[in-house]
Amino acid sequence: MPSLPVARTLDPREAPALRWGILGTGWNAEKFTTALRRHTTQQVYAVGSRTQASADRFAAAVGAPVAHGTYEALVADPHVDIIYVATPHNFHHEHALLAIAAGKHVLIEKPIAVSESEAQDIANRAAAAGVFCMEAFWTLFLPKYDVLTQLMADMAIDAVLADMGEYFTLDHRIFDPALAGGPIFDMATYPLSIALWALGDPAQISANGAPAPNGINGQLAITMESTRGGLAALHTSIVGETPTTATFAGLDATIVVDGPFYQPGGFTYTTRAGARLRYDEERSAHEGGLHFQAAAVARHIAAGETSSPVRPLADSIRLLRVMDEIRAQVGIPLP
Ligand SMILES: NC(=O)c1ccc[n+]([C@@H]2O[C@H](COP(=O)([O-])OP(=O)(O)OC[C@H]3O[C@@H](n4cnc5c(N)ncnc54)[C@H](OP(=O)(O)O)[C@@H]3O)[C@@H](O)[C@H]2O)c1
Repeated sequence: MPSLPVARTLDPREAPALRWGILGTGWNAEKFTTALRRHTTQQVYAVGSRTQASADRFAAAVGAPVAHGTYEALVADPHVDIIYVATPHNFHHEHALLAIAAGKHVLIEKPIAVSESEAQDIANRAAAAGVFCMEAFWTLFLPKYDVLTQLMADMAIDAVLADMGEYFTLDHRIFDPALAGGPIFDMATYPLSIALWALGDPAQISANGAPAPNGINGQLAITMESTRGGLAALHTSIVGETPTTATFAGLDATIVVDGPFYQPGGFTYTTRAGARLRYDEERSAHEGGLHFQAAAVARHIAAGETSSPVRPLADSIRLLRVMDEIRAQVGIPLP
């Protein structure tokens, strides 16, 4: 192969503009709205918070014209086209259902719920309401991952090695068991999702855990065998920094994605025949990448579609089925 494929990602600025309602005013809601404002013509129209003061503060900070002091008022706003659910994991199900019941399209932060049964319920209700529904798994919408998709269509991937480890201070919500803390929902989402994406359905999963300083689960080491015979070795941690790289290997070629593999950045493609090709895109974090998924969502909704082939709900549900199994093996309770 003389050169890498070119990303087919459409210009996010040319996607039809939706009026977004932002449900929850935390860290990622701020990153998401910043990305929308910098890189798209999407309108951050309204925000919703549990308190009017927080809604007012956030609306002023992100330039939203409307601030609602309850989530119920946000989803009832007739001018809002789509709700972006940005609350802690164990509230996604409740808040997605609130939006769907109000007849709104919905983009739900990852993972869309904390169990397979909750995720399936969201999918069923969205289907019954005829609204668009997707997990905000932004990674797969990055131009880099479109190039990887094209490359991997011609590769049989046998092995995936991936990790995601980050240090957090003990006061972060990620250590709070009442907010479904631990690495499984915040972090393992990424290595597990790309392993499932590359290898297909799991046949067998084996997980070991180690506790964080406050006693909740702090690390996971997971092996996953696919029904096709591929194998993934995955690690995730909230107690220390790890490379956060991803490797996809087959008989004839290997791809090593630079850390952090889930953000915009580069990778190296090497073949056994001796080719070495390098992909590079601007290394930007959330503000430089969260908007690609939003532009894709806007195009699907304009086309009258209710899901994305890049991140179908079936894949989000499969992820939670795997997480249920890991939680059962390691003993990670839900709040
Ligand atoms: N895509 C990514 O790269 C990425 C990165 C980080 C996080 N996330 C996801 O985004 C979601 C939110 O994470 P975050 O880091 O933004 O969290 P965060 O900073 O704690 O914000 C969560 C927001 O949810 C609302 N909320 C509702 N009920 C709450 C409760 N009982 N306790 C605390 N907050 C509550 C709050 O907004 P109000 O006070 O306004 O109601 C709060 O600001 C998570 O599911 C996470 O997985 C995704």
